[in-house]
Amino acid sequence: MNFLPVFMDIRGQRCLVVGGGETAARKTALLLQCGAQVTVVAPELVPAFTELKNQARLFHRKIRFEPALLDDVVVVICASGDDDLDCTVSRAAHDRHLPVNVVDRPELCSFVLPAIIDRSPLLVAVSSGGAAPVLARLLRARLETLIPSSYGRLALLAASFRDEVKKKFSLPPKRRMFWEKVLQGPIAELVYAGNEAAAEAALKQQLDEETDDLPQGEVYLVGGGPGNPDLLTFRALRLMQQADVVIYDHLVADAVLDMCRRDAERVYVGKERANHTMRQEGINQLLVRYARQGKRVLRLKGGDPFIFGRGGEEIETLAENGIPFQVVPGITAASGVACYAGIPLTHRDYAQSCVFVTGHLKDNSINLDWDALARPNQTVVIYMGLLGLPILCRELISHGLPAATPVAIVQQGTTVRQRVLVGTLETLPALATEAEFKAPTLIIVGNVVKLHEKLAWFHTEAETEGRQ
Ligand SMILES: C[S@@+](CC[C@H](N)C(=O)[O-])C[C@H]1O[C@@H](n2cnc3c(N)ncnc32)[C@H](O)[C@@H]1O
Repeated sequence: MNFLPVFMDIRGQRCLVVGGGETAARKTALLLQCGAQVTVVAPELVPAFTELKNQARLFHRKIRFEPALLDDVVVVICASGDDDLDCTVSRAAHDRHLPVNVVDRPELCSFVLPAIIDRSPLLVAVSSGGAAPVLARLLRARLETLIPSSYGRLALLAASFRDEVKKKFSLPPKRRMFWEKVLQGPIAELVYAGNEAAAEAALKQQLDEETDDLPQGEVYLVGGGPGNPDLLTFRALRLMQQADVVIYDHLVADAVLDMCRRDAERVYVGKERANHTMRQEGINQLLVRYARQGKRVLRLKGGDPFIFGRGGEEIETLAENGIPFQVVPGITAASGVACYAGIPLTHRDYAQSCVFVTGHLKDNSINLDWDALARPNQTVVIYMGLLGLPILCRELISHGLPAATPVAIVQQGTTVRQRVLVGTLETLPALATEAEFKAPTLIIVGNVVKLHEKLAWFHTEAETEGRQ
């Protein structure tokens, strides 16, 4: 992030606006709305200024800007439309370490003004950091339609009970759970329906009925998909936003991890090949330990937790220890990666079945049922097969597949780093080495791979770089 999002309390504080045009009037209105005293420095003011509410806190100075005007000021906005004046104001503000915004001149700003969705006291601010203000405004328009106008009233109701709730529940996680229940349940619905008195009574009753004990923790075993956050399920996202602790390994893409609750504790448990930060048994016990502390634990896995993910083992331990759990399926690499590579895993003309296998190397060999894999009209998808690629291709040929069988290898499929390389059982190992393919990769063997050329629809910069 290039900017730190903050909300400033400027009530009763002095702010300076340089410029007297329409834009300056809009910025002045915003500052006045936030309770500031605003001095506007400009030779003339457009009529929009005379229509501003809270005129009592607006002061007009018909003088040229000079740095002394920054005395006792907390925020500076410059909308003069004059390049030299913009630079002068920005420099003077920077010299005094004052936050300054110069309209349409991001290089002169130390802060940017976001697009705002106002459900006071609830505020949602959207910013592109000055990169694409129109995009931020479009997003704001979408959010406006999603956030009920009564959210502000809900926030006011919550505010009026805040101290009481804090007094009743000594532990912050318990407080958070209480509020989540109130703000997502029937009490919130009463507010949306305009029945605030009933909502207040129901909240009071709920507060009386609750005890201070922490409920039993639980574990969410969630499939995070192959790397592109757009491929998360709604349920995965909801639980990711709810969990107190996130336990994840290296296969979980940063973009997916970023969708978790910001203030959740994060625990990295490794699991790269040959670099197991924590052994599986340790991970199983960690889940139990956190759940016993009353936490909602997110065990976030790449792809689907039940496909080469050892998810079964993890929940077995939970079941043995009486810990409640839920499992959320994810898009497995085979499915996501094949789609994004334009390779249908089955096709009436090419393959009527599809098998998923792991090509994990153990003692320099791969233990697979080669006869079952080397069948015609079948697609074989190989997870974790990069290191063993030469062995895989050799064995499939020696068990009967033609050496010219098409094979694709896909690196970091579904993400902006996706690369796809197509060859045959005979040629692919050398091609992949030459193109320096790195894990995670998925290998797809079978005649369906022929369709890649025609059906590839997802193109990335990484793919172009790889071709050069
Ligand atoms: C331990 S397995 C976990 C599989 C996961 N549970 C799933 O359902 O996709 C890890 C392997 O999945 C494959 N994989 C996962 N994400 C991938 C991606 N975005 N692109 C290519 N292969 C991927 C790679 O073969 C990687 O070595």
